[in-house]
Amino acid sequence: MKQSSAHEAWGTRLGLILAMAGNAVGLGNFLRFPTQATNHGGGSFMITYFIALLLLGIPLMWIEWGLGRHGGRYRKGHIPGMFASVWRHPAAKYVGVLGLVIPFVVLTYYTCIESWTLAFTFFSITKDYWGLETQEAMIGYLRSFQSVGDPSMHGAFMPFVFFLATLSINIWIVSKGISGGIERLAKIGMPLLFLFALVLAIVVCTMPARPDIGATPADGFQFIYRPDLSGLKSPAVWLASAGQIFFTLSVGMGTLQTYASYLRSKDDILLSGLATSATNETAEVVLGGSIAIPAAVVFFGVTGATQIAASGAFNLGFATMPVVFQQLPFGHVLAFMWFGLLFFAGITSSVAMATPMMAFFREEFGLRREPVAWGLGAAVLLFGLFHIAWLDYGFLDEWDYWGGTFGLSLFAVAEVIIFMWIFKPENAWHTIHEGADIRLPGVFKFIMTYITPAYLFAIFLWWSISDALPILAMDKTPTGDPYAPEARPYIIIARLVILLLFAAFLILIRIAWKRNRYDDRAGFTEVEELASSSTTSTGLNL
Ligand code: ALA
Repeated sequence: MKQSSAHEAWGTRLGLILAMAGNAVGLGNFLRFPTQATNHGGGSFMITYFIALLLLGIPLMWIEWGLGRHGGRYRKGHIPGMFASVWRHPAAKYVGVLGLVIPFVVLTYYTCIESWTLAFTFFSITKDYWGLETQEAMIGYLRSFQSVGDPSMHGAFMPFVFFLATLSINIWIVSKGISGGIERLAKIGMPLLFLFALVLAIVVCTMPARPDIGATPADGFQFIYRPDLSGLKSPAVWLASAGQIFFTLSVGMGTLQTYASYLRSKDDILLSGLATSATNETAEVVLGGSIAIPAAVVFFGVTGATQIAASGAFNLGFATMPVVFQQLPFGHVLAFMWFGLLFFAGITSSVAMATPMMAFFREEFGLRREPVAWGLGAAVLLFGLFHIAWLDYGFLDEWDYWGGTFGLSLFAVAEVIIFMWIFKPENAWHTIHEGADIRLPGVFKFIMTYITPAYLFAIFLWWSISDALPILAMDKTPTGDPYAPEARPYIIIARLVILLLFAAFLILIRIAWKRNRYDDRAGFTEVEELASSSTTSTGLNL
């Protein structure tokens, strides 16, 4: 079978770990996590969160690294190829369409939100919103920027300008390749992100109680960390925490696999995977949990913070935090750091979402990196414009639900069946242990073969019945409200576009397989180790 030469490699192990951690650490850690934790009862959410981390997140993360590195042996950095490499059946490549459409769908709206963080970095350092000291005033400012509310504070073109800038930076980095673009970004972005987060966490944790509210940062910590069994009866808490684990670890997104495909077949994945997941959890639980929630609790009390989180996914980050910073010395610098941190967290994740498509077009159609990157950028621009123009009609929320929530769990169901059951537990276990720096306790084999799939199926079914079907029938929106009658046509368009994307990519997969004369039953030919053929890769040395 013909093989493509479009394959890349990580420069160093440190670079790989930082890039993988950057892939995982994102807006989910600093924006989504505090909102989800606050909305779902704090202490109860955290119990189910850690259970999901242990039984879903970590096992699936290892499965994805294993699947990805295995695909890399055949120079397959995209999911259709990876699925076909472990399941020699004509259907495998088509199931893999999930691994192209899902990261693309998420990428389109993720870069849009990322562009708001870039804009607010700018608005913070220039003190553009200084003087808007109430929660309501800041929400008005945010909505005006998003051009869905009062246009008096920002020109209507502003969201487009920042979106274009954000997207261009992303595509430029992706066009520089894995080691020349993404790895370099991670080496700069990740240390900066941690530095900013640490400074902000220290500032927030030392904030005194305000006379009118009387709450201290410790009350915020107590709210999240005091174990509370009362919420465990609520399915919504289990579903939300599983959803958060998927999103934050980037599991079910197709990106960990593509990154792992650039490893050599004898590179460790178990310890590296654990190290990047631990980095992500530190960023989320320790740092993410020490900024927005305690700050909101000090200024608005536990009840006030809960109301803010419930009032909109972005209000805590984009309205409450600017209100808080305006009361602190050097507030504009702190606000700049907050939004700068969000921007770095976002961009190190969004570049990852572009890589499955990059791998697919380069490996299967022999295209050069730059044209693929800029072509992809044009497609993201097109769909990003829908998100900006139709934000108020729920277009973004709809894509976030079907791509970033339901889609992730659907994809995870497909990959756990293919990797653990069709490929067989023994092969999966052997594959993930090849070149490993640690050996997993045997109980993990049992967990990955039975417990993770069972947990996943249960969550997926529950999700389908409690959310997906009512949302599909338009009985409620992904945020639980009723659909506004005027929004319905836009929602139908949002769904149709996703379906069209699936159709387009199924056709492209078929064309790719025919073009390269792949024989599904015979499998791919293993490609020589990168190390022996490449002069650019230095191998994975620290
Ligand atoms: N894992 C990325 C995040 O948390 C997508 O934002």
